[in-house]
Amino acid sequence: MSSITLTNVRKRFGALEVIKGVDISIADGEFAVFVGPSGCGKSTLLRMIAGLETISDGEFRLDGELMNDVSPDKRGLAMVFQSYALYPHMTVAENIGFSLDLKGIDKPEIKRRVGEVAEKLQLSALLDRRPQALSGGQRQRVAIGRAIIKQPKVILFDEPLSNLDAALRVQMRAELQQLHRNTGSTIIYVTHDQVEAMTLADRIVVLKEGEVQQADHPIALYQEPDNLFVAQFIGSPKMNVFEARVESVASGTARISTTAGWSTELDRIQDLRAGDLILLGIRPEDLSLADTSTGDIITTAHLSERLGMETYVTFDTGQEPAIARIAGDHRIGSGDAVAFRINRAACHIFDRAGKAIRRARP
Ligand SMILES: Nc1ncnc2c1ncn2[C@@H]1O[C@H](COP(=O)(O)OP(=O)(O)OP(=O)(O)O)[C@@H](O)[C@H]1O
Ligand SMILES: [Mg+2]
Repeated sequence: MSSITLTNVRKRFGALEVIKGVDISIADGEFAVFVGPSGCGKSTLLRMIAGLETISDGEFRLDGELMNDVSPDKRGLAMVFQSYALYPHMTVAENIGFSLDLKGIDKPEIKRRVGEVAEKLQLSALLDRRPQALSGGQRQRVAIGRAIIKQPKVILFDEPLSNLDAALRVQMRAELQQLHRNTGSTIIYVTHDQVEAMTLADRIVVLKEGEVQQADHPIALYQEPDNLFVAQFIGSPKMNVFEARVESVASGTARISTTAGWSTELDRIQDLRAGDLILLGIRPEDLSLADTSTGDIITTAHLSERLGMETYVTFDTGQEPAIARIAGDHRIGSGDAVAFRINRAACHIFDRAGKAIRRARP
């Protein structure tokens, strides 16, 4: 059992408060992922949980037990960093077993446990190698092995894959999922990578300037962001936002006109009134190419980026350009007239302060 609760946790460096009252609970066996812009406090929060930074205020409990003043080695947690230093003169087996050796555990027991861990991480064939004879991914796996051999209650990862190339990251992502299934450990994982966050997390915690913006299942965050910040942070390219006004509302359908000059109708409306000023959020994937005589948005293309499987079309809105993510390859030139149809069912509504205004469930 290893659940984590943070209650009104704060961190101050001198007069500067960087963690501003965080409340999070992570269930036993849960895979939680922290995301947020650079400098929002992800590593600081992780280091406070690990005991590498003091907690200025608030409570951190592990299985209900107050941990604030417990030393790092007594917390039963292990941490894996982006830059991991393996001992170059030791073999893989010695690197993984080192902490047990320090504890004075006898050799046969260490050998048995190193063998178990190596099997979980597919390192069994490499146990006699030294780190310089390993690939980046294999080295990262040794670093993970070194952490899990201590049978930690919780494993903390701070951007563990960001030094690896794209193909290796995909492979390690799958291996981390496997590791989580095999060990059932509670995991807290910090990443900048959207795909890692979406695919690994049972729950994503979105942080901004030391505060939790929203914590929920990845798909819930994508489909029902609480605010504009979360809406634009989850999803790539980010959600387009149009300033708009509600013209009329009748039997749950609102007529909405944007300052960009086009209008649309949205159903499942419950909390809007004629005259309301809102922000209309449309994800790039909720725009599709349409005929210039029938499209919802008729405009001019600024730029198209052809990725082969899809095409990103940046287009004029009168303000900040917006972007459409169109399936397939399309040759669209700068200055071409383009039209888009909106997937109205998937449009998001926010008030002008950026708080989500929920539509009724379909
Ligand atoms: N020892 C310190 N003294 C003063 N300020 C610090 C200290 N450590 C971190 N900070 C500040 O705390 C804030 C949060 O830093 P932190 O490293 O937790 O961010 P992060 O979310 O992990 O960012 P990144 O994504 O870039 O790794 C930053 O503004 C940083 O400058
Ligand atoms: Mg960091």
